[in-house]
Amino acid sequence: MSADYLTIDNLRKLIGENIKKVSDAESGGDMKKASALCDTIIGELKLLADLDASDRERYLEIKEEWVKKKASLGSNERMSRSTQKTKNDSGLIDKMENEFRSRIESLISTADTKWSEIGGLDEEKALIREAFFFARATPSANVKVPKLRNMLLFGPPGTGKTSLAKAMSANIDATFFNANGKELVSRYVGDSERLVGALYETARARSPSIIFLDEVENLVLSRDNGNSTSSSVVQQFLSQLDGFGTGDNFVMTVAATNVPWKLDTAILSRFEKKIYVGLPDAKTREKILRINTVDKGFEVGLDLSVLSESTVNFSGRDLAFLCSEAIWHMLRRTNRDAIDRSDSVTPPGSGELKYQVGKITQADFDAALEKVKPVADRGMLERYQDWKEQYAGN
Ligand SMILES: Nc1ncnc2c1ncn2[C@@H]1O[C@H](COP(=O)(O)OP(=O)(O)OP(=O)(O)O)[C@@H](O)[C@H]1O
Ligand SMILES: [Mg+2]
Repeated sequence: MSADYLTIDNLRKLIGENIKKVSDAESGGDMKKASALCDTIIGELKLLADLDASDRERYLEIKEEWVKKKASLGSNERMSRSTQKTKNDSGLIDKMENEFRSRIESLISTADTKWSEIGGLDEEKALIREAFFFARATPSANVKVPKLRNMLLFGPPGTGKTSLAKAMSANIDATFFNANGKELVSRYVGDSERLVGALYETARARSPSIIFLDEVENLVLSRDNGNSTSSSVVQQFLSQLDGFGTGDNFVMTVAATNVPWKLDTAILSRFEKKIYVGLPDAKTREKILRINTVDKGFEVGLDLSVLSESTVNFSGRDLAFLCSEAIWHMLRRTNRDAIDRSDSVTPPGSGELKYQVGKITQADFDAALEKVKPVADRGMLERYQDWKEQYAGN
């Protein structure tokens, strides 16, 4: 290991520690200290940019964020002073820390979604699995592999972004934190910054970890003063995404959004991979139709591949709705006396009240197609396409 490598590493660690100190100083209301620490971080980042030429641009960008952060400290000072009294109450802080801890522990979860329950998205599934493999495995030679720690899933509503994350939690051997942008900001107004810090701290302690941040735009939109990157929760999030002070612990952040244009460039530049989860093609639509009918035990009296051709622009969620509409139509058709019989009083679960399950027919789907329309339209899809071309490659 060369001396340079050691210096870079130590410097990164030092920066990580100082970032944490800024956060502590801010929570304690000591803006002077926070501001001085920002200066230190800015100096260290400059040095790091000189030492580590391969990542020079990125460090300089991060440095600029800290210059902005320092400028924002002045404007936040008055507000923080007014909250200082409560924050300095150590009893309250202890209580809050405990609450944070249990709240964060409660985010650890596993779903039982199998990869096969998600129709299509084969490339996306492969990318995620591959990224996690390379991030955790050791290379056979002493090389510096580009980092891949942060991944953004974006695309129209109902295309399987959350489902992909659920499958990750079920199939990848890592501690999985299931967090939601809206919850992170609404539950602890004003303290979300510390919650985000605590989330990453816990994830490092339980490494390897995956933090899934669904509806990430809500976290970023929680601007204290309308100024995007200066809000403290955004700053905290940015520094966690930069991964300073992470050391050997592996924490991968997977964020999801259906409104990627609400994320500003400071956030976007932190995501090494931006994966477009688009609408299903005809073959995938057929699979999803099958998952929601045949795989649930229903008999289907029509060719699903033909039906898939007439559901252009349907998302996975639209198709799931379409199938349940068709199933209900079939049930009504085969149980015309259901409403009259609903008045007959039998103890629930006694098994006396039975109903017929028939075959789902073309007519059931025709009726369903009258009711369920795709959410995505041409304009919406073009917007995703444009955004993708601009920010996520072709
Ligand atoms: N590829 C798919 N295969 C099977 N089912 C799917 C697929 N995509 C979506 N679905 C169905 O649609 C539902 C919603 O999907 P999911 O929650 O993953 O969408 P999303 O992309 O996270 O949407 P949003 O952007 O609105 O959060 C799932 O519960 C599932 O029933
Ligand atoms: Mg979702």
